[in-house]
Amino acid sequence: MSNYKIAVVPGDGIGNEIVPEGLRVIKAVAKKHNFSVETEEFGWGAGYYLKNNQFLPDNGIETLKAFDAVYFGSVGLPAVDDTLPAKDYTFKVRTHFNQYVNHRPVRTYPGVTRPIRSEKHIDFVIVRENNEGEFVQMGGQYLPDFENGMGIDTSVFTRKGIERVAHYAFKLARTRRNKVTHITKSNTLINSLSYWDRVIGEVAEQYPDVEHQQMYIDNSTAMFVLKPEQFDVVLTTNLFGDILSDLGGAIMGSLGLGGSGNINPEKEFPSMFEPIHGSAPDIAGQNIANPYGQIWSAALMLEHLGETEAANSIMEAIDKSTSQGVLTVDLGGSASTSDVADAVIANL
Ligand code: NAI
Ligand code: MG
Repeated sequence: MSNYKIAVVPGDGIGNEIVPEGLRVIKAVAKKHNFSVETEEFGWGAGYYLKNNQFLPDNGIETLKAFDAVYFGSVGLPAVDDTLPAKDYTFKVRTHFNQYVNHRPVRTYPGVTRPIRSEKHIDFVIVRENNEGEFVQMGGQYLPDFENGMGIDTSVFTRKGIERVAHYAFKLARTRRNKVTHITKSNTLINSLSYWDRVIGEVAEQYPDVEHQQMYIDNSTAMFVLKPEQFDVVLTTNLFGDILSDLGGAIMGSLGLGGSGNINPEKEFPSMFEPIHGSAPDIAGQNIANPYGQIWSAALMLEHLGETEAANSIMEAIDKSTSQGVLTVDLGGSASTSDVADAVIANL
């Protein structure tokens, strides 16, 4: 019987409500599918920072290395400088563990009303470059307190960084509907993103069976709303992927519906699974947060670990639950966070 060691980092805000519910689902599905999970919880994040002046201890990354995967909520609190959560936790884990793919699926949930015009079935995956691009935090501020103050951030796109995420996207398309739409803005970012286009074009030539389409980010935001059924795999940069995945959440019906994986495809390090949204301090502590995205992240984690049947049964149980009208407030329902997990477990 396989046994998986999972590090659990609920983080802040609603992370502390939805992660435990996701864990209940994981334990229930493990029982049904004959594997076991051994979990260890780490109380890291902005709350930890308020007491310890750091988001995770000095040996935090080293500690996580010993696990098969990390099951994460989100980090950030209104009382803490919001330039820190990404720098000191999320981006740190993503880069130290070569989680260069952020795999963020978007699909229709049965029984959930969507705010968009298209009524067609939607099923695509955003593959967001997760280690470089606009989020490398190379830059600085010059004389910020003066009239001539300035701030600079530099984006970094390396051949290696582009090639590896492009290969992931094209391989993924082969398991789906054989189409990659790569999203760019090379008509204005004429150095960085035209290089991105060129390297993706070179990788695309190695996958002649996969349709390769290029689209600009401005048009793609419109297409996400007007014609989202055209997408299969959406390959994009760190910043664009961050923005598009919230839009992906919105077109599903709520940010709370989106699950994701920060993936190290070579499996040299643990991958980390988290919902696409943040710690939602505006609704924290009320047991009303939507946990579907956190539960979907559990399915993505089990899939990554090789437990495909368990992952599929979680997805089927999610679909049954939403069809039965088990919907949280953000979806127009009245189910609590724990009601949703109860329903998913009952439907497994
Ligand atoms: P957010 O995603 O936390 O919230 C945006 C809006 O969506 C809020 O109105 C919230 O109530 C709602 N929402 C989000 N998740 C929901 C759920 N599961 N169920 C129901 N409603 C939900 O983004 P915001 O407000 O921009 O950021 C809040 C904090 O989270 C900040 O400190 C930010 O830095 C952090 N953050 C952390 C992330 C991470 O750890 N990966 C990602 C994004 C934001
Ligand atoms: Mg985001």
